[in-house]
Amino acid sequence: MSQSYPGIRSGDVVMPSIGLGTWQLENGAAQVMTEKALEVGYRHIDTAQIYGNEQDVGAALAATGVPRGEIFVTTKVWVDKFADGDLQRSVDESLKKLRVDQVDLLLLHWPKPKPALAETIAALNAVKADGRTRAIGLSNFTSTLMQEAAALSEAPITTNQVEYHPYLSQKTLRATADKLGASLTAWSPLAQGKVADEPVLKAIGAKYGKTPGQVTLRWQVQQGVVTIPRTKNPARLAENFAIFDFELTDEEMAQVYALARPDGRIGDWIDAAYKWDAE
Ligand SMILES: NC(=O)c1ccc[n+]([C@@H]2O[C@H](COP(=O)([O-])OP(=O)(O)OC[C@H]3O[C@@H](n4cnc5c(N)ncnc54)[C@H](OP(=O)(O)O)[C@@H]3O)[C@@H](O)[C@H]2O)c1
Repeated sequence: MSQSYPGIRSGDVVMPSIGLGTWQLENGAAQVMTEKALEVGYRHIDTAQIYGNEQDVGAALAATGVPRGEIFVTTKVWVDKFADGDLQRSVDESLKKLRVDQVDLLLLHWPKPKPALAETIAALNAVKADGRTRAIGLSNFTSTLMQEAAALSEAPITTNQVEYHPYLSQKTLRATADKLGASLTAWSPLAQGKVADEPVLKAIGAKYGKTPGQVTLRWQVQQGVVTIPRTKNPARLAENFAIFDFELTDEEMAQVYALARPDGRIGDWIDAAYKWDAE
């Protein structure tokens, strides 16, 4: 796969470092924004079965002039489809909606105690083995669960897509992903827009003529984290993509890391008992 911006080694694939997040892009917005993102230069689109917009992303993939082989498409299997057989059928449905024979990356959307992880990981490996996905990975797995999944999996676990932005450290998961040769992919990378008001990010951005959002996305890719900001505003597509013409100093990287705080988490799983990594 070739694209004109840096990729991030993730298990057995290289993921384009920035992608378009499509959560909450509804009523055709995912089609419009995917097409526009591809025009801007994005080569990575993140969707999920549960977002209800795979068919819109599929319509964009069918309409664009960008060859399929240049676009990294990620989708996710929802938790009610984790049993052997259900998972494979669910992937077929996703492929049909996306109008492709293969996705580039298939993620388990959230960890779930039943069925056993071994059964779900085996099913995930089966769809990779028969070519329905090029790579497999996880989303919202803790460090312990990520290591368990990696130990159970024949194929490398490429990435763990988790909430990650300046207000949330994710130190433990970053180290675990590193150890496993996987990447982290940052969801809610802009803290759902909150970074725009952050004085530290504004001050760093002023030096380079960049917005707090751009500084944040740069900070993520510069540390080897894949990032998938979402916008429904075409102008912001270009803004969020313009992060490859400047570099943060070590001191600036440290200033952004220092914004992490214990109550920085935004999103949570419906199971209130779910225990994230402490740091
Ligand atoms: N795996 C999971 O469980 C999971 C969970 C959540 C999200 N995700 C994925 O991660 C993607 C991104 O996360 P997210 O959608 O929660 O949040 P996000 O990307 O952090 O933030 C999106 C919000 O920020 C605004 N925004 C976009 N660019 C901006 C900029 N440069 N400056 C200031 N504000 C900006 C957008 O508003 P406008 O639309 O007005 O620009 C939108 O309200 C999702 O779309 C989805 O693909 C995955």
